[in-house]
Amino acid sequence: MNQPTALIHEACRHLADRQELVAADPYRLHYHLMAPVGLINDPNGFIYFQGRYHLFFQWNPFETKHGKKFWGHFISENLTHWELVSPALAPDEWYDKDGCYSGSAVVKDDKLYIFYTGNVKNEDGERESYQCLAVSEDGHHFHKEGPVIHVPDGYTAHFRDPKVFYKNNSWQMVIGAQSEDREGAVVLYTSPDLRNWTFQGKLASADSFGEEGLGYMWECPDLFELDGSDILIISPQGLEPDGYYYNNIFQAGYLSGKVDNKALSYEHGDFTELDRGFDFYAPQTTEAPDGRRILMAWMGNAEIGGTEHPTAEYGWVHALTIPRSLEFIDGSIRQHPVEELEQLRLSGVSHHHVTLKDEEKQLENMHGDAFELQVSFREWDAASFQIRFGKTTTFTYDEATRTCTLERMRFDQKGMESRKCYLETLNHIQVYKDTSSVELFLNNGEETFSARIFDSTRDPNITFHTKGQITLTAYKWDMGSGL
Ligand code: FRU
Repeated sequence: MNQPTALIHEACRHLADRQELVAADPYRLHYHLMAPVGLINDPNGFIYFQGRYHLFFQWNPFETKHGKKFWGHFISENLTHWELVSPALAPDEWYDKDGCYSGSAVVKDDKLYIFYTGNVKNEDGERESYQCLAVSEDGHHFHKEGPVIHVPDGYTAHFRDPKVFYKNNSWQMVIGAQSEDREGAVVLYTSPDLRNWTFQGKLASADSFGEEGLGYMWECPDLFELDGSDILIISPQGLEPDGYYYNNIFQAGYLSGKVDNKALSYEHGDFTELDRGFDFYAPQTTEAPDGRRILMAWMGNAEIGGTEHPTAEYGWVHALTIPRSLEFIDGSIRQHPVEELEQLRLSGVSHHHVTLKDEEKQLENMHGDAFELQVSFREWDAASFQIRFGKTTTFTYDEATRTCTLERMRFDQKGMESRKCYLETLNHIQVYKDTSSVELFLNNGEETFSARIFDSTRDPNITFHTKGQITLTAYKWDMGSGL
């Protein structure tokens, strides 16, 4: 069995030294996975193995900015209560010395195989990229086997984030890539044994999206079948804002269609963003033992990550979203908070059935720091409906323009900013609010908004605001801790 390396020891020591400082932050979340110290970004290697979920994560333990990434490691029996265990990978070999970048996990013969990108900056300051393998028998100790794939001809060193799966009697791997003519792409490899991989070519790429293209690099691909369609999740970089779309620095979304397994080609439709909020990137899915397709994402994005983040003074930045199960209905993905999260509801639900007319109202017991809220609209004769969380976060639905808006205070506290999407009608809102985050699921997961929110007034009140008359029912549960 492999012993933890010196670097892993150093990370654990650093975590122990900083634990008190981190825990003192009033913005620490209650039931979201977050950086134990330092910076967390992508979820990696999400898998059910030997009776438990393993969720690894991109982790820079030493700083609140991007750097030489480790694979941190959380374990859970129920997707709800998580335990932080020793990191799985540290950047301590020639082929991953500047970061064990994102990747995935599969199980074969009761062993866990993890595939990740070894990120290297060579003596000339140039990037090198290796797709690497590490194997574990117990899910805790990993033996690195080194690179199994080198960058093929026709692609730049922006070649990373292997996602492996088993299909048609073969192991398959998709990798996020940039072609030499600077187009984002996803390439496909196959293998009989997880060690020898054959390049099969390009599965999808930005140049199939007409003149506009679809970005200069596609990160973190994930390919799976969902309700009869082949879904390819990608995180493209380099899209220009377009009305309500593409307003974050980088986007995360999906294509849907059919993979032709003989021709190894992919017929697909347009790109659709998975989330309409500010903080959602690099999602990864896994299949639960009962067949559900579960997604988690980085509840952050690349623009923030340094000292400007409000939690940086407490030695940590960023978090992950709650786990969501996916469905594909009428050509689009719906996201549902996994039902296991109900285990976090504390007893004593607040329930209201009310009619509100041109008023702003705080219903009894409608407040909290970490809660789940559900609002169903029974009768609607109104121009708009708004929920206000504390003083600086609002969600509004405007009937005339059929627009949803999430507004929050900017992280530098210098004014408000918003994200929007269209929605034909609004009949249900499910909110997962935590100390410094909010996730909204509209109409049973038809649209979602995810965002970190930092309200320095720490106002716990939830207020409803109607222009016109609305009859609604609302349920609120306070949420316990999942960590
Ligand atoms: C996405 C990403 C990946 C990369 C990792 C590095 O956020 O840039 O492409 O593997 O983060 O931390």
